[in-house]
Amino acid sequence: MLKTEITAEQLYEKLKNIKLGASVCQYSLRKCEELVPLINEINELKEQKNAVILAHSYITPEVIYGVADFVGDSYKLSRDAMATEARTIVFVAVRFMGETAKILNPEKEVLIPALQDGCSLADSIDAQTVRDLRRQYPEHTFICYINTTAQVKAECDVTVTSANVYKVAENVPNDKIYFLPDKFMGQNLKNYMERRGIKKDIQYYSGTCYVHEDYGMDDIMKVRLEYPNAKIVSHPECNSAIIDNSDFVGSTEQMLKFMRETGSRQFLMLTECGLSARLQSEFPDKQLVGSCTMCKFMKSNTLGDILRALKEPLARDRVLLDEPTRLRALKTIEAMFLYAEK
Ligand code: 13P
Ligand code: SF4
Repeated sequence: MLKTEITAEQLYEKLKNIKLGASVCQYSLRKCEELVPLINEINELKEQKNAVILAHSYITPEVIYGVADFVGDSYKLSRDAMATEARTIVFVAVRFMGETAKILNPEKEVLIPALQDGCSLADSIDAQTVRDLRRQYPEHTFICYINTTAQVKAECDVTVTSANVYKVAENVPNDKIYFLPDKFMGQNLKNYMERRGIKKDIQYYSGTCYVHEDYGMDDIMKVRLEYPNAKIVSHPECNSAIIDNSDFVGSTEQMLKFMRETGSRQFLMLTECGLSARLQSEFPDKQLVGSCTMCKFMKSNTLGDILRALKEPLARDRVLLDEPTRLRALKTIEAMFLYAEK
């Protein structure tokens, strides 16, 4: 048995408590027996090819617990991508995340196995629209959410992630800000600044995430009635009513940290189901209440796609960026690191 090999029993131990969706995120020992040969082949190939697998928390649990070397939110994964010494990065997520890894690691091969690698936010705005907006708002600092293409980042001044959006916007030395593309995050940012008495003119674009816009106040009300002690944990891509009525708001990694550290035992998680799966797997003494929505883009990354990308990548698996775009996009990410760590 190779050092990296896992058994069906070991995999089942990690997945057995996950019960989400009709069958996507439900596991039996039998299913684990079917998954394990593929998982072991991927792990062996990774070693042979000096590759690492970075996976976002929204990816299916068999990828997270079977083959991923690094798991986290967009901010953590960009940091992990910078730190790795591996020659190849297989970014199991969506295209904008793989592009961010490539912007930071031009000398590395970055592969995205997802067959549907879009994101409703990243697809909501293009570079020409940003150029037009800049003519309309010439005095504003343009802050883009990391959920944007490299071409859009290249037209902006600073990138943010859900882990640092408030802090970065606060530290940007301009009282006029244009935020794109998420209208809910833009409104949440505006409300945050107003609550803290910070006077900034905040304009924002009209994009939304189709997963997070699905949640409404009725989700919270139902849970508050049935489980009065449950903590409501939400992502800043949700609408402002949800944000105002949540016990904790943060990036997916910050949500996990909150759940790990708080004494509470019941949680409603207003974000993609991948995080609910991590809760069920990693905190068996804590209970998930309410339901969750899946992101079809994130969930389109299968073990078979990962194996293909490692063995014989298709042209579409490879992330390629032209150097002028990469360098302009890089400046916005470096600005993020600067303002986020101030
Ligand atoms: P996080 O950076 O919080 O993981 O969010 C990324 C994302 O796509 C949320 O929908
Ligand atoms: Fe994009 Fe929404 Fe999916 Fe996140 S959950 S990757 S924002 S579509």
